[in-house]
Amino acid sequence: MVIKSAEYLISNVDWQKCPPPDMPEYAFIGRSNVGKSSLINMLMNHDKLAKTSGTPGKTQLINHFLINKSWYIVDLPGYGFAKVSQSQRRSWEQMIENYLRKRTNLVNVFVLIDSRHTPQKIDIEFVNQLGEWQVPFQLVFTKADKSTQLETSRNVKAFLNKLRETWQFLPANYVTSTVKKTGRDKILEFIDEMNGR
Ligand code: GTP
Ligand code: MG
Repeated sequence: MVIKSAEYLISNVDWQKCPPPDMPEYAFIGRSNVGKSSLINMLMNHDKLAKTSGTPGKTQLINHFLINKSWYIVDLPGYGFAKVSQSQRRSWEQMIENYLRKRTNLVNVFVLIDSRHTPQKIDIEFVNQLGEWQVPFQLVFTKADKSTQLETSRNVKAFLNKLRETWQFLPANYVTSTVKKTGRDKILEFIDEMNGR
């Protein structure tokens, strides 16, 4: 897919204030600092579309971008950020749960997992939660340039094996690096295919 245009639209706390659900939508979520905003920029071939940061907790709202004037990308705040109060965490969870469960045009959620680590409880729990909510998702293993191929594939396998304990069918997964631009074509291909349905 060729990206002809990518524009920032709006940021919201409230899912009901998001743009009208009239076009297919793809959201990116995952642990704080896992690389959601960077991945969106890589996919869009755009350095500064989504705001990135070396410090976790940069993205705090539901951010909508309009792509090729025909579909939406959504950058979501990360979970598992230690430096937030209980009440902040609760309101984050409420915001995300409402958005994920009620957004009618949401086609797929890309759940980002840091490929440098062995399976983390917080990611497994989040994925299982999506299952309970029946939200369609795929997995994206990020920052593959930071480890050897062998380490990355070990971690991917271990994560999928962990999911096998609760899931009969495994979701599709991608291995990405924003530095090396790995995984871009496959993710865009999937989106293109879904948009064509
Ligand atoms: P929050 O919005 O805070 O939840 O973070 P995020 O998930 O949006 O992460 P962000 O894209 O801001 O990236 C966090 C840090 O990881 C930044 O310093 C990025 O440059 C770095 N990063 C993201 N993806 C990659 C990657 O593929 N390779 C490398 N080496 N660094 C990456
Ligand atoms: Mg971000």
